[in-house]
Amino acid sequence: MDNVPLDMVNLAKEIIKNSYAPYSKYNVASVVRTDNNNVYWGVNIENASYGLTMCAERVAIFNAISHGEKKIKEILVAVNSEEPAIPCGACLQVLSEFGDDDTQIYSISLKSNKSKFYKLKDLLPYRFSSKNLKI
Ligand code: THU
Repeated sequence: MDNVPLDMVNLAKEIIKNSYAPYSKYNVASVVRTDNNNVYWGVNIENASYGLTMCAERVAIFNAISHGEKKIKEILVAVNSEEPAIPCGACLQVLSEFGDDDTQIYSISLKSNKSKFYKLKDLLPYRFSSKNLKI
């Protein structure tokens, strides 16, 4: 995990205990850094009506935007299981609204210490955006 920002890892370790995942038991924490160098975070929040579950990444991104931030520079996704997880398609699409091709994505396992690094353009090379809407 050498190349992962330590402040983000430490925050993820602290907040993953707040993950509400009684159904999947799959705990996720996400930390974002904005272009203003502020950090915000979130955890996955499940629901008895399963489809209402919200991923940690979107909670973190929405938290940043709710605080007046406009641009996400990097995002960390941390899990307690063996293999790092990459953000799901819905989270990538939401990230693309506030990021760009080079937005950095760090995926880490807090259990195995395995880590993977991606740019948004690696995971979502073709994106639906405001350009499509011609606005
Ligand atoms: N989950 C996330 O929070 N982020 C991901 O990148 C993958 C999936 C959550 C949703 C659900 O609470 C649990 O993990 C299992 O899918």
